[in-house]
Amino acid sequence: MKLLVIFFAIIQQLVAKSLPSFLHVCNKSDPNLAECVTTAIEELRPYLVKGVPEFNIPSIEPLFMNELISEESGDLRIIANNVKTYGCSDFFVRGMKMNLDDQYYEIDIELPLLRIEAYYNVSGKVLMMPIRGEGPLQANVTNCRSRTVLKGELYDKNGETYIRYKEMTMHVIVGGGIAKVENLFNGDKFLNDMINDVINKNFDAFLLELMPVIERSLTAAFLEIANAIVAPYTFKQLYPH
Ligand SMILES: *[C@@H]1O[C@H](CO)[C@@H](O)[C@H](O)[C@H]1NC(C)=O
Ligand SMILES: *[C@@H]1O[C@H](CO)[C@@H](O)[C@H](O)[C@H]1NC(C)=O
Ligand SMILES: *[C@@H]1O[C@H](CO)[C@@H](O)[C@H](O)[C@H]1NC(C)=O
Repeated sequence: MKLLVIFFAIIQQLVAKSLPSFLHVCNKSDPNLAECVTTAIEELRPYLVKGVPEFNIPSIEPLFMNELISEESGDLRIIANNVKTYGCSDFFVRGMKMNLDDQYYEIDIELPLLRIEAYYNVSGKVLMMPIRGEGPLQANVTNCRSRTVLKGELYDKNGETYIRYKEMTMHVIVGGGIAKVENLFNGDKFLNDMINDVINKNFDAFLLELMPVIERSLTAAFLEIANAIVAPYTFKQLYPH
């Protein structure tokens, strides 16, 4: 009996899992393969919102990020902690080029609104005036367009071919946005509003500092999710042929 249990445990590890219903697979010889993969990605959306713990897929609403640091015009230093980003699942796939054998994907994605909530800590000078404070920070970043490149490879394990993704890069172009900090100067409304005004008049510079950090956090999260999704299945299960 014990031997039988061990035997089945080994067999289970050797044989790839059967496909879950949320994975929309695409025939390798589909003449519209890129469109099929686009649909497969869009059909993952509700599962990315809720997460699927049994498949190691975390919820991306919100997406948690590490510390963000922004240096603004040399005089102002903003550190944001506990950064939560909402809206990553509202993506539209606007274009897809892919090469199956090289596992190379070029995906154009649009994100209408990213809502960022964080806790900031700022110190520096604005208009010659020293400022220091901490409190909640909100930012809305609108009409983001990104070109995402995902590179992977096929590899063999136990005589079967699997996919693993090795690198993801993303370049986000932001349409616009607004940021709001609260609680500066012990809540003095006049001074606080003035700082918000300065930040928003320099929003492009603020974003220029912030976006590379956001891009790195997004790609790290999505690379891990992409691998969690494909790891249990063979190439042949994911792209039947
Ligand atoms: C904010 O920054 C100041 C100085 O840079 C530091 O003394 C303080 O501990 C920081 N507060 C938090 C909550 O990180
Ligand atoms: C961001 O957008 C949300 C939803 O549209 C809105 O409720 C919120 O007030 C906006 N935040 C800022 C800082 O404008
Ligand atoms: C994939 O498509 C090809 C060509 O349309 C077809 O011959 C083949 O049976 C399909 N394979 C699977 C597993 O659906």
